[in-house]
Amino acid sequence: MTDSLRVVDVAEDQLDSVWQVRTRSFGPGGDRDEWRKTALEFLDDGRYLGVVDGDELVAAARIWPFEQWWHGRRVQLGGVAGVVVAPEYRGRGVASLLMRAVLQRCVDKGYPLTALYPATTVLYRHLGYEFAGHRYKFSFQAADLRTLGGKGTAIRKAGPGDAELFLQLASKAHEGQRSSGPLIWPLKQVQGWLEDEDNFAYVADDGFVVYNWSDGALAVDELIAGSEETARALWATVGSGASIARTVHAYCAPSDPIHLMVEHEADTDTRINRWMLRMIDAPAAIAARGFPEVTVEVDLQLVDQELAGNTGGWHLSVAGGAGQLTPAEPSVDALRLGSRGLAALYAGTPLASLRAAGLAAGGTPEGDDALDTAFGGPTPYVLDYF
Ligand SMILES: CC(C)(COP(=O)(O)OP(=O)(O)OC[C@H]1O[C@@H](n2cnc3c(N)ncnc32)[C@H](O)[C@@H]1OP(=O)(O)O)[C@@H](O)C(=O)NCCC(=O)NCCS
Repeated sequence: MTDSLRVVDVAEDQLDSVWQVRTRSFGPGGDRDEWRKTALEFLDDGRYLGVVDGDELVAAARIWPFEQWWHGRRVQLGGVAGVVVAPEYRGRGVASLLMRAVLQRCVDKGYPLTALYPATTVLYRHLGYEFAGHRYKFSFQAADLRTLGGKGTAIRKAGPGDAELFLQLASKAHEGQRSSGPLIWPLKQVQGWLEDEDNFAYVADDGFVVYNWSDGALAVDELIAGSEETARALWATVGSGASIARTVHAYCAPSDPIHLMVEHEADTDTRINRWMLRMIDAPAAIAARGFPEVTVEVDLQLVDQELAGNTGGWHLSVAGGAGQLTPAEPSVDALRLGSRGLAALYAGTPLASLRAAGLAAGGTPEGDDALDTAFGGPTPYVLDYF
């Protein structure tokens, strides 16, 4: 790697260079003014990092300030996006240099977790990320949804003024369902979606739907329903477009009740994007998430090549729906995990899979059972791409 490479906070006068590297990396398209407006918010909050060679900006990445639901409790998370390296600088460790700075910035920001959608897994696995869940796009027959009923439920058109209400309704649903995975976006972003005339939003007492047209089909970005009646009413509202749209695509959980309500199963060509997770601060990440009502006492031996604070002997206690990771002397029975194994375990990957993939060693059969129960639960999913 060239000695002249340095990590910097991206400055406003470097945004044109970032845009050029992005175009060379992701292809043309996108609204440059919109992108710039959002980029400035990242800049102002120290969430846009770059790599320069002398004066020239050659790489960039930004961090979304998300929260993510983990077993019905919210955990702060740095959502890493737009990782790009100029083509002539690739293959010599520039992205790795940048991502190490991103991890450190997540530490500084106090995010216990970080997540991303990988275009290549190699880079991120080297740095301790592992697959944690999917983003599912199911396709239903619009005619099936149209007849779901819920006609007695009052719904009204929603607008930007409903953004806070939407966040509250989603929170209530995810707490109740003990959801893992869905992201909580900044309020401003939600207001922006509701201002967009291409999005159609409707709200009921205990739920809402946001959908839009997508290549002649309708696409549901999010549907939250606190009761069966509301679910029926909101899905049927979308399905009422059946005379024009044959198909309704929907980003939703694999365990969403809609799968148990529609007559025909979702199309077999369900689209899946996989996202990866990493612990930034293991004790904080464990303390912040929810757990099932089980009692677990297990010793862990963690090795984190990038963030030394996670490395060492730990004791995991889970009781009363909460967990705690406290420093402990290394024990012979401790389960040994690296950062990738820890991330995958946090997301509910069974210990048998972790062992078979070489991501876990040591421990005991009883400990495996206990951990599978503690970290198990509804399958993690994300609704949005970032
Ligand atoms: C992907 C990208 C960021 C990698 O940048 P880079 O500076 O070349 O990455 P590094 O040199 O730090 O590589 C780190 C590791 O990832 C591997 N890697 C990098 N690009 C890879 C690719 N496309 N496929 C497989 N492995 C890749 C490297 O081989 C290296 O692993 P190694 O040490 O075992 O050899 C860069 O190619 C790029 O900007 N691509 C276009 C945009 C993109 O895909 N961004 C990622 C969005 S998630």
